[in-house]
Amino acid sequence: MGRLKIAVLISGRGSNLSALINACKSESMPASIVAVISNRPDAAGLVRAQRAGLPITVIDHRQYRTRKAFEVDLDTAIRDYQANFVCNAGFMRILTEWFVRRWYDKHLNVHPSLLPAYPGLDTHKRAIKDGARITGCTVHFVRATLDTGPILIQAAVPVLQDDTPNSLADRVLATEHKIYPAAVRLLAEGRVSIINERVIIDDLNTPEEAFIINPDAGC
Ligand code: GRF
Repeated sequence: MGRLKIAVLISGRGSNLSALINACKSESMPASIVAVISNRPDAAGLVRAQRAGLPITVIDHRQYRTRKAFEVDLDTAIRDYQANFVCNAGFMRILTEWFVRRWYDKHLNVHPSLLPAYPGLDTHKRAIKDGARITGCTVHFVRATLDTGPILIQAAVPVLQDDTPNSLADRVLATEHKIYPAAVRLLAEGRVSIINERVIIDDLNTPEEAFIINPDAGC
């Protein structure tokens, strides 16, 4: 694939974007972010991208009559930046099969649960309500069904007795910031293949490369 040239898709705060920006600053990371694209003009992540000197584009989904029309412009923008990989980082639009096919196996998402548990929204509230003892986060390849796709890295985060959805979200988010750059590094190093919809990582020397138990979260 050569050097990874990433378009990051955002909708909001952009803290995962910042984690990726920082990781790509390292000389040993064979990846760069070539563009940050938001579907919301007010996304705070756009400011982070600008501060980092990255090109930004807003493609406001509300200006489009159909999902397909929005996605055609999104796809065109990504290609105009000559990106060869897409990373969703808090991108809150459901993508159609058409877009997913365009970037098949070249498109990652980060999700705040241990998939396949808790796809969709309100993951932390649901985990607490269910009495789950462990939750976490997942970086996975994007497929047409929401929050499915081959899993690249996961991290476990304990649910504490006095956790609220917000306190749990904070610890899970801090862990997302570790696994997303780690996932991008594995890809950029050309060590990732997908066989029968399972991810195989070459030269997996330490379990930490595929599975992190967050030491800061009391595990
Ligand atoms: C993260 O928890 C991510 O997993 C979810 O949305 C949140 C985005 O946060 N999809 P940020 O915009 O990266 O700060």
